[in-house]
Amino acid sequence: MYFYRIVSFLLPHQQVASCYIYTLLSQNCTPMKKPSLLVTCGLPYTNGRCHIGHLRTYVPADFYVRYKRRCGVDVTFICGSDNHGTPIVVSAEAENTTPRALSERYHHHFDVTFQKMQIFFDRFGMSDDPTNRHRTTDIVTRMINAGYVYPKVIHQAYCPRCSRFLPDRYLKGTCPHCGKQARGDECDQGCGKPLAPGELVDPVCTICGTDAEFREQEHYFMRLSEFGSELEGFLERLKGTENSRNYAKGWLREEIHDWCITRTLDWGIPFPGRSDLTIYVWVDAPIGYIAFTEEWAKEKGIDWKEKWCSDDCEITHFIGVDITYHHCLFWPAMLHAAGYRMPDTVIASGMVKIDGQKFSKSRGYVVWANEEYLDRGLSADYLRYYLLSYTSHTKELNFSWGVYQERINNEVVNTLGNFVYRAMHFAYKEYGGIPEVAPQNEIFSQIQETLDSIQAAIESYEFKEAVDAIMALAAYGNNYIQNSAPWKVKKTDPDAAQQIIADCLQLTKALTILIDHVMPEHAKKIWDLLGVTTPLSETSFSDVLTPLFGNAELKKPEIVFQKLDDDLIKGFEEILKQRIEALAAGEAESERDKEAKKDMMKSEGIKAPQPPCISSDASEEQEQEGGRPEITIDEFSKMELRIGKILEAKGIPKSKKLLCLQVDIGREVRQIVSGIAPFYAPEDLVGKYVVVICNLKPAKLMGVESYGMVLAAGDEAVLLSPVAEVPVGTLIR
Ligand code: 2FM
Ligand code: ZN
Repeated sequence: MYFYRIVSFLLPHQQVASCYIYTLLSQNCTPMKKPSLLVTCGLPYTNGRCHIGHLRTYVPADFYVRYKRRCGVDVTFICGSDNHGTPIVVSAEAENTTPRALSERYHHHFDVTFQKMQIFFDRFGMSDDPTNRHRTTDIVTRMINAGYVYPKVIHQAYCPRCSRFLPDRYLKGTCPHCGKQARGDECDQGCGKPLAPGELVDPVCTICGTDAEFREQEHYFMRLSEFGSELEGFLERLKGTENSRNYAKGWLREEIHDWCITRTLDWGIPFPGRSDLTIYVWVDAPIGYIAFTEEWAKEKGIDWKEKWCSDDCEITHFIGVDITYHHCLFWPAMLHAAGYRMPDTVIASGMVKIDGQKFSKSRGYVVWANEEYLDRGLSADYLRYYLLSYTSHTKELNFSWGVYQERINNEVVNTLGNFVYRAMHFAYKEYGGIPEVAPQNEIFSQIQETLDSIQAAIESYEFKEAVDAIMALAAYGNNYIQNSAPWKVKKTDPDAAQQIIADCLQLTKALTILIDHVMPEHAKKIWDLLGVTTPLSETSFSDVLTPLFGNAELKKPEIVFQKLDDDLIKGFEEILKQRIEALAAGEAESERDKEAKKDMMKSEGIKAPQPPCISSDASEEQEQEGGRPEITIDEFSKMELRIGKILEAKGIPKSKKLLCLQVDIGREVRQIVSGIAPFYAPEDLVGKYVVVICNLKPAKLMGVESYGMVLAAGDEAVLLSPVAEVPVGTLIR
């Protein structure tokens, strides 16, 4: 009798499920044309601890890898540590240790931290290890032999006081492009452009503060300027997020110079044939991606060339948007010059803010991954959830403890956690296990829709949308159990109550598989409570639609997602606040030290370095112009107005007024929706310099997100533009 009931439930259900599985396999999970995927993450420098800014790139990469693997794609996930270059030498000198010892320490630190964050690379190598030394030497030699490298005598910064040449971070000064304070090799505070030796304006030695002088020295350059059309083609083909592509296209349009690939530094990989010169760190770091693949492949008995030299493997780089130049111009050019294929996809994450402030270790706006998070017992999963769901991958992510608490408690605990607990608890209490009832078609439709949304979101690198789709399914489940109230229904219609719970358990199963990509530790706990016989790691997407009964034995449920209480969060807020205050006080102190140092240098007859920026007098109030109420200069200076350059302009479907613009504002490319369609043809706008309000609250216009406003005058929306050429990103003050 009972047997017949099960069969009659099973048959129609199996048909439904297999039909869904078919759709799933044929639409969602068809392995891509290229069956094999190599995913890399930017290599962290081994001179500092892991912080939330690092994790903003690595967590989404891990999420993407988990998703692709569950789709049946053969993914190799590669990363390692970046051990060369001046940052490491400067830090090692400060700690009175060797760059290698420092690198090993931080390498281990990152390796362990990533694992604690549930990020598991197939290989986490070191760029100073023999494989990378060998591969870098080989690639540079190939570039030399192919005629892409030439020597040139240049003026190289030299410190007369320290008696040494000053590469990269041994120098600071003013960016020749945007006028902001910059390091010797990159404009880190302004436009983000890499700087060649000799380009920095008013360079000063970072060791002793003396003005640098220039001495002649022979260095080696790569003929990057010859790769213009190759790189154009590469950027046309390149997949991934638009931010990096647009940036790189903009740079390419401006002009691209040959690239100095040697440095005067003892630490690094020697330049072939010149023991006095070292290969620039930005050459050997990305080659690490290849070297670490070799190390992984050797262990597996695989030929690494299957990944790097074959069209059968797709190469995807996850990076922070600040290293776009290196990954979208230098790196593909190097690969091409050495006879390798270029990458297929670059996915660039936006930067991180803390409490609305620019991320800054020196000012204390940072959250350290271990000391201030994992070591204090906070869940890796919760941080993964926050990083993935806070905003679009390419946008700036703001971290604040208050928002973190609110989102975890409201979304993860109250919605998802509440639902799965109630479903399992009711089933265990009332039926002692999983009811032998097939879930209804509506439930499978909901799950299928969620899968479709996730797929669409991930294929467009909108990881937040994918997580939102999962949470929408959790909300659906929560409403369903609440509104259908099986605890009441069971009194009048026990079968209907069983049906509701069977539906809810199927949703729980699906949710568990889906959140495994976001919150793997919690997913594993729920899976164990559901008592499914197949290990979670062995499930594929088709399992979201296979029934639970018959292959699972429910255990006594527990509360899996714990709330974050107010006192705990207040404690974290206090730590952050105190650090910021202490550093601000220290900064004031060090300003006084600097003044004292200047006096000391004056008395020694040494010219003190000039401050790189002319400070504005913010105390003066402006006169009222009439019309609107008077504001102070402080109020005005709250507006972040910058010179932007329109890279792209497109109409918005169904809108006669709006255009969607991609505007380069120096540190990033912003999407701005503007009501100027009646006055401008989109193609006429490309290349125009405009004034942008960058810190305007984002808004959605006709369903399209807008992150700023372009200034225009009068009823005809005449765009404001600088009368003389000003670098993109210049602040208006
Ligand atoms: O910017 C950085 O932190 C670099 N260490 C990233 C290197 S990524 C790659 F090219 F290796
Ligand atoms: Zn700059």
